[in-house]
Amino acid sequence: MTGDLFYNVPEDDAKSESAAVKRVKWLRREIERHNKFYYQQNKPEISDREYDMLVEELAELERRFPRLATAASPTQRVGGAPTGEFAQITHKAPMLSIANTYSHEELRDFDGRVKKLLGRNDDIEYLVELKIDGVAVALRYESGRIVYGATRGDGLRGDVITDNLRKVRGVLDALPASSNRKGSVFEVRGEVYIDKADFDRLNKQMTDTGEECFANPRNLAAGSLKQKNSAVTATRPLRIFHYAAGATDFALPRTHSDFMKLLDDMGLRTNPQRTLCRSIEEAIGCAIEWEPKRDGLPYNIDGLVVKVNRREWWDTLGTTAKTPRYMTAYKFSAKQAVTRLLDIQCQVGRTGVVTPVAHLEPVFLAGSTISRATLHNADEIARLDARIGDQVVIEKAGDVIPRVVRVIESVRTGAERKFKFPRKCPICGSELARSEYEVAIRCPNISCSGQVRERILYYGSRNGMDIEGLGGVIVNQLVETGLTRDIADLYALTVEPVAALERMAATSAANLIKKIEASKQRPLHNLLYALGIPQIGTSGARALALNYRALEDLMEARREELSAIRDIGEVTAEGIYSFFHDASNRALITRLHRAGVAAPNSLYRGASADASDAPAEAFQGMTVVLTGTLAGMTRVKAQERIEALGGKCSGSVSKKTSLVIAGGETGSKLAKARELGVRVMGEDEFMKMLESASA
Ligand code: IVH
Repeated sequence: MTGDLFYNVPEDDAKSESAAVKRVKWLRREIERHNKFYYQQNKPEISDREYDMLVEELAELERRFPRLATAASPTQRVGGAPTGEFAQITHKAPMLSIANTYSHEELRDFDGRVKKLLGRNDDIEYLVELKIDGVAVALRYESGRIVYGATRGDGLRGDVITDNLRKVRGVLDALPASSNRKGSVFEVRGEVYIDKADFDRLNKQMTDTGEECFANPRNLAAGSLKQKNSAVTATRPLRIFHYAAGATDFALPRTHSDFMKLLDDMGLRTNPQRTLCRSIEEAIGCAIEWEPKRDGLPYNIDGLVVKVNRREWWDTLGTTAKTPRYMTAYKFSAKQAVTRLLDIQCQVGRTGVVTPVAHLEPVFLAGSTISRATLHNADEIARLDARIGDQVVIEKAGDVIPRVVRVIESVRTGAERKFKFPRKCPICGSELARSEYEVAIRCPNISCSGQVRERILYYGSRNGMDIEGLGGVIVNQLVETGLTRDIADLYALTVEPVAALERMAATSAANLIKKIEASKQRPLHNLLYALGIPQIGTSGARALALNYRALEDLMEARREELSAIRDIGEVTAEGIYSFFHDASNRALITRLHRAGVAAPNSLYRGASADASDAPAEAFQGMTVVLTGTLAGMTRVKAQERIEALGGKCSGSVSKKTSLVIAGGETGSKLAKARELGVRVMGEDEFMKMLESASA
């Protein structure tokens, strides 16, 4: 397409392009941030619908300004990432996600697209399944025996969790004799979930024993699958519904409904609630039927999946980078309720950000009683014009924290009061500060007990140092009594004063001290997360641990070195650098060190991992430039593969380039590579490298 090569920005678009560049950057950052909340921390902050709107806006801008599109854009990838704590595999066929629809109209649009792509006018048959709200996994059987079970990860690479998956009810170790032909390969995919009743029972047990409980069944299922010790997984009543095939050499039936029957015949548990519909209108009828019935199911669903029944058409319909075109998810609308806004109170977070929280007249909504909802920030209160005493509509989408959607102004009595954002910190009384760069209002006092409490809780959280039993009630008392003024003080605690705290006894105090002691051996990436370095979540922490053997090395890293790390941008690099050059942070780390916090690092791969000794990460740490046309693969696909194998792609050849892959004709990039002495590889060699990397 020469149009792309000679793409010129029309005059009147030039200005809007510069605005688009900014917006695109912001959208990508925001989407990545929400990806982390959803896929890694299992704590989404916004509803799926709001998330989809961000992605849609980004896709639209990338369509309007093709120069801004990149293979690494979140519009081209599924959001998760392997966790770094398990061995990983590259999925032989990528594990895609499913595009969402939210209305009957959008379902009809989907049907319209399917017909157009197939060039047909008659009704299309669909199989409508329930969309199980659990964790996607892939199970590979060779000669009928399970060889591995893995998570979806980022869709290309996932964590190998075979032993844990063996503990899931419904996962077979071996396929029946009729399907265990020697040398056969069968990869089946499905959703691991936990019944609502089992979830409630387990959560209650955990509360009783003082453990941190889980927000919802999906979190519990995900957490259970990520256990290092599969004996723990075995205590969790996990189940599976199989629903799809991965790479396989079985001749599969011509329709998806027959494929599901085949799974049944093989003893692979499927969800019996599926309906064969003769047209999209019948599928819509199904959606109408299921909406009110979903709460009656023993497990959570977050919608329906509508699949073109004839598998033979799937090839013609194909996939986008992220989703197949032969299926769509129909998401049920978020559940809303009306209640009264009784008060607005402010909470202080770990970084000092003050968040207003709506206190509501308790109302029952989607399975739980809601008495609080987030109002995000002062701008949001102004936007809603929320006043104390107002009738408000609140919404809970999936397991997102409930939020106030709007105010019902027509029923105002005049007695409602406007909320004045406090000028002083509600906890320590310091004057609050608002920077011009962000909407957040902060308490500037880093010793504010509200902040200290949150930092300690964060330090002990699961992704951090995982100190079981270090919950809100205890931490409040530890801070109030002055026993702990910061995280390093935790390591000076002894049983006696802790046992003297309210709701504590000698055994629970001794247990807590034991857990604190054990945290000294938590891996480096957990410590890096726990320290609360700006912008560093679980994946950033892993990226750092991959590159630095020990905390001391990281503390001395230069800015440029940090920003050269994959997944660490300049802003984040600056944040890390400043964090480690702050005198009080350094003093704190010295104290952690003296207390015996060892933070062993198993992730360290060496600063320049070499392709030859790491075949699974063939392009680890390399900056690769693609030039010319590859005969066997699109450029986008090649870029994706390189990135999945640890490399970074760049558009121009420089001294930093590690490798140039040259397809077809030669050009200036090739000449430049020769001039700089950069290694050049032809298409054949490249394909061989990819093959051996995924072998
Ligand atoms: S088919 C291309 N069928 O929903 C993905 N997925 O939002 C093919 N899911 O990753 C999967 N119920 O984890 C399929 N009946 C069902 C499903 C289902 C739940 C999950 C699956 C997928 C996610 C996408």
